[in-house]
Formats: sequence, C-alpha cells, structure tokens
Amino acid sequence: MFPEKNQAQAWQVTRMVKKIGIIGCGAMGSEIADYISRNLGDRLKIIAVADIDSGKAEALSSRIKPKPSVASSIEEVINKSDIIIEAASGDISGEVAEKADALKKDVLIMSTGGLLKKQHLVEKINSGHSSIHIPSGAVCGLDGLKSAMTGAVRSVTLTTRKPLKGLAGSPYLKEKNIDIEKIDKETLIYSGTAGEAIKYFPQNINVAVTLSICGIGPDKTNVKIFTSPEYTRNTHEIEIEGEFGRLWTRTENMPSKNNPKTSQLAIFSAIAKLKEII
Ligand SMILES: NC(=O)c1ccc[n+]([C@@H]2O[C@H](COP(=O)([O-])OP(=O)(O)OC[C@H]3O[C@@H](n4cnc5c(N)ncnc54)[C@H](O)[C@@H]3O)[C@@H](O)[C@H]2O)c1
Repeated sequence: MFPEKNQAQAWQVTRMVKKIGIIGCGAMGSEIADYISRNLGDRLKIIAVADIDSGKAEALSSRIKPKPSVASSIEEVINKSDIIIEAASGDISGEVAEKADALKKDVLIMSTGGLLKKQHLVEKINSGHSSIHIPSGAVCGLDGLKSAMTGAVRSVTLTTRKPLKGLAGSPYLKEKNIDIEKIDKETLIYSGTAGEAIKYFPQNINVAVTLSICGIGPDKTNVKIFTSPEYTRNTHEIEIEGEFGRLWTRTENMPSKNNPKTSQLAIFSAIAKLKEII
C-alpha cells in the first residue's frame, strides 16, 4: 500500500507525543498526571499545569518528569497544549471549554456544571461538532440514555447517596442551616432538578449535569441526594423511563483517597477518555 519509508513516516505521525495541559491540580488533576507519567509517557507529555492555588501547581509540577511549567493563566495552558484537562471548578470550566474548542483542541471537562452557563456549547457537544469531551464520571448508563434519546424519554432520575464528608461545605447546607455532623441516620438532604442541584452542590453533583446534557436537560432531570453516617461509598442510581422501556443502573463508588467528594471511578473515567482520544 505505502512505500516502506512513507509507512514508517505515517506511523511516526500517528505516534506523535501529544502535549497535555492540566487546569486544577487537586485530587483529579494530580491522579491523572501521576497516571500519565507512570503509564502513558511514550504517548503523552504534561507540558503545563495551573491552579488558582499556585502552591498546588508547583507541588504537582515538581513531582513530574520532565517537569511541566506552571502556567499563570488558562490561555497559557490552552495555547501550549494539544489536549487540555479541566479538573478545577465550574466557575471556569465553561470558559476553558469555549477557548479550547475555538482552537479545535481536545478538552476534557470534569466540572460539567459550568457548561450549563454556555448553552451553545451544550448544543455543540450534543451535535458532535465540538472538540469538548465529557467523561462518564462516576456512573454507568450514559450509553443507554443516549440511545434512548432517539425515541421519547419520559423521565430521568438520579438518586445519589454520599457519606457525610462527601457533602460537607456545600452551599446548600449553609443556606438551609444544616449541620451535617449532627445527622445520625439516613436522611434525604435534597430533592429537585439537576439544574438547581448543581447550584447548591457545585462540587458534589456534576454527574447530574452530565446526565442532563446526555438526556432531557437540567430542568427535567430529577435528583435526590441522601446521606447517612453509615454510608462509606458514593452510590449513584440512575432510572430512565421512555419509549424504549426502563433502564436502571447502580454504581457503588469508592471515594478518592485525596478528596471524599470525588469518586475514584470519575478519575478513572477521565483517564479512559484520554486513552480513547489518543
Ligand atoms: N464529572 C464528574 O463526574 C465529576 C466527578 C468528580 C468531581 N468532578 C469535578 O471535577 C473537578 C475536580 O475535582 P477534584 O476532586 O480534583 O477537586 P479538588 O478540590 O481536589 O481539586 C480542584 C483543584 O482546582 C483548583 N481550582 C479551583 N478553582 C480554580 C480556578 N478557578 N482556577 C484554577 N484552579 C482552580 C483548586 O485549588 C484545587 O486544587 C471539581 O470541579 C469536581 O466538582 C466531576
């Protein structure tokens, strides 16, 4: 098919090392970076890291070889990288997605809640005409939901169970004056829409937004959040009813050792998506 030299060149092109930029050097950003340096070094090179807390960016940068630069802005990370991983906050994820997509650079968005502020991006993602990737996070069943959307979908409900410290510090608890440490039995903390849930629990329920982007939208996706001192895992149940029938999934997640709000599977899902891209 190809003369031998061209074939070798074509192979080299497809095996080109891609430059990775990481925005957010907390549990997720750090674990992804560690995985890349340990297992994907022949395909990926972390070129730049950034965090609002420069100490965290410095700490991550100094443990990776070769040492990535510590960037001082989102733009710097995007400009230097082929693939950008956002693992920071819904306050900036929409902007990161928009800027990377404008340059046609692959970008993984973990803080999916921030995408709701950029409806045009949600439409672009769903039309398949963007370079924005949303990993499946800590749930299974999104493939079924996407298929179900070909027909009529009547309801989508996410029931999440998180240990007390998986919800600590959320704006909802402050607003409702709930002392999470005083909860002594299984309690329904929240029931409402995904769109409202992500405002009250911006760091705890991105999965609800992921589900609503793939499905019937943030105002029609129902969310229930339970907590209990007995819980040790972040459990997500998804129930979907529609023309296709009924689908029910349950994922029992170990929380990340570095952040109890984040499930280990969500971190693995980012790595799996990254492998899919390359
Ligand atoms: N999609 C999903 O299913 C899913 C699952 C778990 C977590 N998340 C989200 O992914 C993100 C990362 O999770 P994590 O467990 O690593 O959180 P983390 O709190 O451990 O780390 C977040 C890091 O981002 C930094 N940061 C915050 N705001 C920033 C900003 N404006 N600019 C730059 N850096 C900023 C923080 O200083 C911190 O180091 C969070 O937004 C979290 O809510 C999504």
